[in-house]
Amino acid sequence: MLKILLTGGEGLLAHALREFQPKDCDLICLSHSDFDLTEPAHMQEQLAAIAPQVVINTAAYNQVDRCEIERGLSWAVNAAGPQRLAELCAPTGICLVHYGTDYVFDGEKKSPYLETDPPNPLNHYAAGKLAGEQAVLRASPNHLVLRTSWVFGGHPTQTKTFVHTVLRAAREGRELKATTDQTSVPTFAPDLAAWTFELVRQGASGLVHAVNDDGVSRYDWALAILGEAVPARLIRDVPPVERVTTRFFNSTMRRPTNTVMSNEKLTKLLGHRPGSWRPGLRKMLAQMK
Ligand SMILES: NC(=O)c1ccc[n+]([C@@H]2O[C@H](COP(=O)([O-])OP(=O)(O)OC[C@H]3O[C@@H](n4cnc5c(N)ncnc54)[C@H](OP(=O)(O)O)[C@@H]3O)[C@@H](O)[C@H]2O)c1
Repeated sequence: MLKILLTGGEGLLAHALREFQPKDCDLICLSHSDFDLTEPAHMQEQLAAIAPQVVINTAAYNQVDRCEIERGLSWAVNAAGPQRLAELCAPTGICLVHYGTDYVFDGEKKSPYLETDPPNPLNHYAAGKLAGEQAVLRASPNHLVLRTSWVFGGHPTQTKTFVHTVLRAAREGRELKATTDQTSVPTFAPDLAAWTFELVRQGASGLVHAVNDDGVSRYDWALAILGEAVPARLIRDVPPVERVTTRFFNSTMRRPTNTVMSNEKLTKLLGHRPGSWRPGLRKMLAQMK
């Protein structure tokens, strides 16, 4: 039995990991209050008491806009916390699996980003996440960082993914607007969970882009969600979606445009293509019914 400690136990990806848990893994899930990334002494105690072989860290401060305001806290959770956790895991040979983001890139590249492309974060969230993943990789050659993007999936209580937001707006008859100049890869949380366990089983390490196939703009992603929601009988018709650009939202925070990441390295490790996000979207919508 492989003993795995899962942090951020109440979150979206943690839910998918719990659902997917392989039979030969003993998965111990700890929520924010039981394993706080900003409390190193407590983390150390928990690691000593549980003695896992692997830690999967899904805990993060993910509210991108709030990170600009809550700079100290978001840095503590996204950068300093993972660093401390990685350093605590390294001496006892615990492998830390940590998640990064496509936002570490500035979006200027015209083709999918490779693991070897230099990051250039445009906002505080991205800078914190980059510092976190770099510290994890520095702490041990056994640690694994999976960079992902636009994660979506079902959760027993949370309804905060883009899929939920678009459907809520459509059902309430609210005007829908989506950007045509922000492009990335929607990634189905259960797929990401399955790849995570597969890579853990292989003893993979280093930096890997872990996303489904097929990049899309926010606008096309919204249309795909609405298009699939009709046969799933969640809405009657596809409502109009207004095409806008990032500038329309008039935010002071900079967001990258094209952050589509290549999943070629993941494909090689898995021995097959990760596959499109569409089947995952259909599954999620079918379950929402
Ligand atoms: N979702 C995406 O689109 C996306 C995109 C790129 C990368 N990622 C990365 O993928 C990973 C998983 O994301 P997710 O979507 O599952 O996130 P999520 O649903 O927001 O879950 C994150 C969890 O972390 C917990 N948390 C917050 N502060 C903490 C702290 N100080 N100590 C311990 N736990 C804390 C949260 O608990 P509370 O709610 O109780 O605070 C929450 O349950 C993260 O590393 C994220 O940055 C996600």
